[in-house]
Amino acid sequence: MSNQPIGLFDSGIGGTSIWKEVIKLLPNENTIYLADSKNAPYGEKNTEEIIELAKKNTEFLISKGCKLIIVACNTATTNAIDFLRKNYPIPFIGIEPAIKPAALLSKTGAIGILATKGTLTSKLFEKTAKEYTKNITTIEQEGEGLVPLIESGKLNSPEIKKLLHKYLKPMLKFNIDHLVLGCTHYPYLIPQIKEILGSTVNIIDSGQAVAKQTKAVLEKNNLLATSTLKTSYHFFTNGKKEVLESILNDASSEFTIEQLNY
Ligand code: SIN
Repeated sequence: MSNQPIGLFDSGIGGTSIWKEVIKLLPNENTIYLADSKNAPYGEKNTEEIIELAKKNTEFLISKGCKLIIVACNTATTNAIDFLRKNYPIPFIGIEPAIKPAALLSKTGAIGILATKGTLTSKLFEKTAKEYTKNITTIEQEGEGLVPLIESGKLNSPEIKKLLHKYLKPMLKFNIDHLVLGCTHYPYLIPQIKEILGSTVNIIDSGQAVAKQTKAVLEKNNLLATSTLKTSYHFFTNGKKEVLESILNDASSEFTIEQLNY
């Protein structure tokens, strides 16, 4: 079991920001990544639809022999992880918006959260925000329209810059000193976000924390890979192969991508 792959899925290419941190921390682990780009954005769907997609993705990854699954998508985590944990016999790691560290580190007492509608309206988000932001001002903003542009590879487009400007500039009036990226697609926009927010606002994403949590759960379940053979990184996508390829090219690891009719 321990040399079987770790599975990851997302509503497309965003979760690769998590995958990059996972392979850095766990270089002996094989991975299988499923990019469900055809159904993006998940953030505009209701909970029942998100659970259906999460079920389908999970069953696909289990059929490929995955020993643990990282739900590399905030929207799928906040809406479906309880269901997945109850219904499948393997461990699941989720991506929750990093509200807790942002709230604890904030000196101005104000933090911004950029996430999808599906995440911001979920019960899990509401619970986490209530628990950690009692004495903090939180400026929540839906990133409507960002995921489809990222999925079509338009990272540096004027449309993305215009949307980011509209969503983030007003946060500065509240004197935020931390911005939580509550969607795994958004780390690919960090350079553009920094241009708008400047150097006084720290940007928090969840990649490293998720990689550490994955390692801890593998250890606890005696599932860490023991093989020293070359690792394999296999990707499945039902979207544009070239976009996924372009986003993976800086990972300096060999990988294979398979087109999926899914
Ligand atoms: C989306 O598909 O809307 C974004 C996925 C995420 O929340 O990470």
